[in-house]
Amino acid sequence: MNSLRSMWAKRFKPEKNVLLSYSLFMLIVVAGASSLLGIVLTGFVRGHVIRMHASFYADSLSSAFSSTLPGASKEELARAHDSLEREGLLMHVKTMSIWDSSGVLLYGEASPFIGAVGNDPLVDAQSGSLRFIYKTTSVRGMFDLPRGDLALYLPIRDLRSTVIGVIGLIESDEGLADDLGIAARTIALYVSFAGVAIYASLFMLYFRSYRRQSLYSARLKKSKESIIFAMSSLSSLRDQETGGHLERCEEYVRLLAGELREDRIFRRYVDAEYIESLANVAPLHDIGKVGIDDAILRKPGKLTPDEYEIMKTHCALGASILEAARERLPFESELELAIELTRHHHERWDGTGYPYGLSGESIPLSARIMAIADVYDALRSERYYKKAIGHAESLKIIKAGAGTQFDPRLLFIVETCSDKLERIYNGTPCIS
Ligand SMILES: [Fe+2]
Ligand SMILES: [Fe+2]
Repeated sequence: MNSLRSMWAKRFKPEKNVLLSYSLFMLIVVAGASSLLGIVLTGFVRGHVIRMHASFYADSLSSAFSSTLPGASKEELARAHDSLEREGLLMHVKTMSIWDSSGVLLYGEASPFIGAVGNDPLVDAQSGSLRFIYKTTSVRGMFDLPRGDLALYLPIRDLRSTVIGVIGLIESDEGLADDLGIAARTIALYVSFAGVAIYASLFMLYFRSYRRQSLYSARLKKSKESIIFAMSSLSSLRDQETGGHLERCEEYVRLLAGELREDRIFRRYVDAEYIESLANVAPLHDIGKVGIDDAILRKPGKLTPDEYEIMKTHCALGASILEAARERLPFESELELAIELTRHHHERWDGTGYPYGLSGESIPLSARIMAIADVYDALRSERYYKKAIGHAESLKIIKAGAGTQFDPRLLFIVETCSDKLERIYNGTPCIS
């Protein structure tokens, strides 16, 4: 089955829905980057606001305890606590604990955060850093701070700035929670706007380039089609074939290959790109006739065996013309399909055709389809040496060639497309 279709057709597949793929990819990238940026910024701003808030406690409490802490009893610390509360310095504070510089609890309750391996806030505060735990931060997964509560661990310093103890506060400040919520929402809003703006700009940029590229590709495609038409016209100018043969062959091939897509065996090998490419290069099938002498090409009668041998060389000659063009291309193109179709369109299913006498599936599918189209049009057309044959008679002759001249599995499409084949020959547009 490999020969049903050239390897080129499998490799040369244009990407589908490029715009949609790019849009989705960019949407995922921008949404991911925005979310990450939002999380990082929110964490940064929250930390900054809490540090500013904590610096108030750090200043006032450190000065209150710097002279009383060394050697203070539990009662003295309780009195200092009461005094601070009366002064309104601990307005939102629910609990207060005090440790000395070696980590011994002097006052208040032990916090479940203390003692966390590698993440002990007391150790950090002892070394002079301010530590906080906010919202649902968990320590070792064993304790969750109630939402909106803030745990602060502040170093207490003496006059020489040496850490002499640590104060731990659990604070429940709705105002602070509201401020932090507003800050988080504002950041999320700005980051979302920025994400949408970046996405829209990137999309517009890509869309403009895509449109320009599409226009350029469409022009290139039209140019390629005109060049193929001009090249194939060279052979028809000198040949005795009736006008319009090449254009009709293109339409027959498009029709027949299109019908193959409906077939269980062939639909795995025939897709829209293959059909379009095959139809594009079909007019080139007899380009090798430019190298055949006029005396043979235009002979008004049957060719002698020698003349026929010369005529048969048009397949190899056409293929070599196209191969020379292919040498100039550093990539795979429709020329691969054009070469196999041009070289093999006179092969016969039973192996008695030319130029190589290939048989069965060793004949490329493109050439097997082309053979049916070419023979149908030749039968219908008048030549110097024969009269034109009607549609029904032509179909009968083609069907009689099943298994000898043509691939028998392809002939069902001739039956299915009978009306459309006739319309193409008569120049009536096909409505499919
Ligand atoms: Fe030919
Ligand atoms: Fe032909």
